[in-house]
Amino acid sequence: MTGRKKVILDVDTGVDDALAIILAVTSGQLDILGITTVSGNVSLDQATLNTCKILELLGVSGQIPVCRGADQPLLRESVFEHRVHGKDGIGGALADMVVTQQAEAERAEDFIIRQVLAQPGEVTLIMTAPLTNLARALHKCPELTRHAAEVIVMGGVVQGFGNITPTAEYNMYADPEAAKLVLAAGFPRLTLVGLDVTRKALLSAEDIAKLQVPAIREYVEKSTADYRTRYYERNGVQACALHDPLAVGVALNRSFVTVHDFYVDVETRSDLCDGQTVCDFQNRLGKPANAGVCLEVDAPAFLKGFINSLNQGRTKDGSH
Ligand code: RIB
Ligand code: CA
Repeated sequence: MTGRKKVILDVDTGVDDALAIILAVTSGQLDILGITTVSGNVSLDQATLNTCKILELLGVSGQIPVCRGADQPLLRESVFEHRVHGKDGIGGALADMVVTQQAEAERAEDFIIRQVLAQPGEVTLIMTAPLTNLARALHKCPELTRHAAEVIVMGGVVQGFGNITPTAEYNMYADPEAAKLVLAAGFPRLTLVGLDVTRKALLSAEDIAKLQVPAIREYVEKSTADYRTRYYERNGVQACALHDPLAVGVALNRSFVTVHDFYVDVETRSDLCDGQTVCDFQNRLGKPANAGVCLEVDAPAFLKGFINSLNQGRTKDGSH
């Protein structure tokens, strides 16, 4: 279909990455060139298997290439998040599903480079994981910055507290060197979708009850159950924060968020604050802005769009 925005999703398929993939596919508005996987919430193998399970659930197995990327951060040991996403990364859902799709032979960074260079100015990279794959792609092909249409990064927090340390958001904390490199690379259009806005995009049990496609509703219910319970224990709200889906939401409809340009850097040499995204709100460093930082979100509008999109989805058994 012409006119659809060309995107590549880069994921560490955990609970919310899976919901981001479901939103991207069911929206029907994105030409998903491929999905690249990376070690993050769970191992590279598990993230890749989970990604293929979601494509199987949606009945699009084999239609969207999946390419494996980094199996650990650039320099550091992996920091998995099984406490949040469960042993398998998707809350134990689809445990018996047999996938028919296998990952491509092409590595994630090579896929990103090939696709962006083949369609200069047309491909949006939606990053919902530690930025290791994009950092590796930039190392191989620095001119990527000139040819990507936009980079949308779910990551960081500039006005609030972290979700893995007091100061750091998980994707930045898991590979701060990769994040620092991506932010410094000089992408002319990089949008940072941080916890400042994603914490307001909360999916409740009432929202889930509005899902009309049985297989999708059952999946969302099951995969988010433990996540919502833990969220309640920590935040007093029974909900699933749609961190990664909001990054896809920004690609679908930028008016969901209010964006301001600032210089943002990432701490990599601190015992206490590694992975912190430092936003220079008052331009004290005198450096040019390198990111469009999302500071506000129209959460009700995004949630409405999320539910509507999933309700137009199809699944493997063709149910609609
Ligand atoms: O901090 C939230 C981010 O870290 C999300 O991408 C989630 O999937 C985890 O990777
Ligand atoms: Ca993620």
